[in-house]
Amino acid sequence: MGWAPDRIVDIERYPIADRDSTGWHALVRDCRQRLADNGALSLPGFVRPERQDAMADEARALSADSHVMTERHTVYFEPADPAVAPDHPRCRLGRTTKGGVAADRIPADAMLRAVYEWDALKAFIAAVLDEPVLYRHADPMAALNIGVFRDGFGLDWHFDRADFAVTLSIQTAAGGGAFEYVPNLRSDADQNYEAVSRLLDGEDLGIKALPFEAGTLALFRGHHSPHRVTPVVGECARLAAVLSYVREPGVTFSPYAQELFYGRTAAPDGPR
Ligand SMILES: [Fe+2]
Repeated sequence: MGWAPDRIVDIERYPIADRDSTGWHALVRDCRQRLADNGALSLPGFVRPERQDAMADEARALSADSHVMTERHTVYFEPADPAVAPDHPRCRLGRTTKGGVAADRIPADAMLRAVYEWDALKAFIAAVLDEPVLYRHADPMAALNIGVFRDGFGLDWHFDRADFAVTLSIQTAAGGGAFEYVPNLRSDADQNYEAVSRLLDGEDLGIKALPFEAGTLALFRGHHSPHRVTPVVGECARLAAVLSYVREPGVTFSPYAQELFYGRTAAPDGPR
């Protein structure tokens, strides 16, 4: 039997299950404001403190089955552009190494799945983002992932293609593994290549860190704000779930994209 999500999420602290109650409206208002001010929002203690160890145990067991990828990429997650100068941001390559547990390896009775598949959470996130409706990603592998960052793994500076991401931190590393970002360094109208170059040179252009204690739910707008996960140091892996919500129903990856991101195509028998 699966978990009831309100036994995992601290609904006394975050009344997301009580849609349209005074507490729900106050929380949504507060979250919208913080997201607008910072481009990021973190809700510490979203997972009840007494459930965090069990959730970490579950994720650690699943992480043994993760797919590791190493990639050189620009901040735009594209290959280097041969048409620009070598010191241009479209030409400079960073390095990302990360492990991932795909959704089809996360069992139906997992705590994490109970949280992800909870309609109240989806509705709450849609409200905070001011979206009329959101859908869970329909891809059998991409919908729900656990990012696994072991010793030396990290995610180099990049902009997201998607304009928001939802993560749930499960376990922090002993050292490194910080989520760092620079709010709104570019806009739709201005790529601001000069500032991106300085960031890649190591200049601190107002780098912020998003709190990442275990049990924190975070919303992040990464399309205009470059961000990274600093390299992990130590034997304790940084584990964070990525909960994928999209604006359209029925979104899936092509077998090519599945192969690229997960090193295989989806299991034919669906989620276990
Ligand atoms: Fe990202």
